[in-house]
Amino acid sequence: MLYPRGFQFGVATASAQVEGCGLDGGRGLSIWDTFAMKTGAVTGGATPGKNACDSYRLFDVDLWNMMDLGVNAYRMSIAWSRVMPQGTGQLNQAGVDYYKRCFEKLLKAGIAPNVTLYHWDLPQALEDRGGWVNRDSPYWYQEYADHMFRLFGDIVPAWVTVNEPIATYVGYGLGFFAPGYTNKRWGNQARHNVMTASGAGVEAFRASGAKGQIGAVIDIWKRLPMTQDPEDIALAHDEDEENWKFYADRLLGTGYSQYILDKFAREGTLMDMKDEDFRLTNLPIDFYGMNYYNTVPVTANKERARAAGGNFAEDRSAFHPESLSTVLKMIIDQYHLSIPVYVTENGFGHQGEETVNPATGMVEDDYRIEYLKAALASVESLIRDGVDVRGYYLWTLMDNFEWSAGNTFKYGLLRTDFETMRRTWKKSAYWYRDYIRAARQM
Ligand code: NOJ
Repeated sequence: MLYPRGFQFGVATASAQVEGCGLDGGRGLSIWDTFAMKTGAVTGGATPGKNACDSYRLFDVDLWNMMDLGVNAYRMSIAWSRVMPQGTGQLNQAGVDYYKRCFEKLLKAGIAPNVTLYHWDLPQALEDRGGWVNRDSPYWYQEYADHMFRLFGDIVPAWVTVNEPIATYVGYGLGFFAPGYTNKRWGNQARHNVMTASGAGVEAFRASGAKGQIGAVIDIWKRLPMTQDPEDIALAHDEDEENWKFYADRLLGTGYSQYILDKFAREGTLMDMKDEDFRLTNLPIDFYGMNYYNTVPVTANKERARAAGGNFAEDRSAFHPESLSTVLKMIIDQYHLSIPVYVTENGFGHQGEETVNPATGMVEDDYRIEYLKAALASVESLIRDGVDVRGYYLWTLMDNFEWSAGNTFKYGLLRTDFETMRRTWKKSAYWYRDYIRAARQM
């Protein structure tokens, strides 16, 4: 058998993207609810309350679909504002009960929950206190995390402190994500604080005596210079520093690079930092989760960029599923990682509606299957090379609320009809089911 016994084949989702059902069950507003209400912030005016699959009500349907897929892991997240509507202080019992039911049902079905504590939906009540820019934010997070570990630490086998911390920068520095600010200094402070929060989560986890493992997730969009021109190389380096090294240096290394500190100092955007912040992120974690989608070609030359056309001209993500293994190996080498790793997200996004074949009633997403085939072949090569990769979580179970793109970007194995919330299997879902079956017999 190629895959080690117990290897996790999973699917991944996040609370704000799938739970829906407005503020049912006493959930408090999150920054994504507020952001989505601003005209033009989210394509088509979609909101997490109305356009996110209603998994809060339909969890059992999702569970049955996962059982039919044959996955043995489900990466999901807790909506902080569902369990603590004010962000700190009072717990919301209905929210706590909801997650308890989810975890228990998953475990009963032989599906291990891998639970993310923070997947971008900061309680609005905390945003009103300055959000992630406030230096107290890591401690608000620690209070919340501590509750979760004490409530669920005996049954949840794996936890993720924060998912893709770059989202805080996009939210405070670039404005494309909630809460929608365009202030680089705030963006840098916010991303610094969210990394400190991750460490504060690890500290709370160890103190709580919870049984499982804890890790964090950083997405790696490796920049590749299009030519060997010094300008292209310098730009690729700068983007690597800004887009993933900032987080990885902190989580997997010991602190920020001199390059980034000098750059921010020059710009006047350097964050307020304390030794304690680094002590927290230097606490050891049990695993690293990599989100991998694609690589990004980089050139400083506008003419060259235009001539390259295609993906480059659109979102700059080159279609390189097979680079999953090289990128992960690069991270392992660069940071001398000796902890287990998981591919915590990987999948294929299709922009716009996907065509349903009227004869079969199915989306025949061969493009997604092609991508997944190459990505999973890459995972197989990691196993063959002896890399300690313990799981692969496909993004995502079903089409959902894709942040600023609303419902216009589709990553699901299942198609969601956002009027009826009915889920139907795409061709790729059958393909993944069969891949998992075969892998278990390999
Ligand atoms: C990364 C994020 O973690 C997830 O929330 C998002 O939907 C996918 N990538 C696809 O963009």
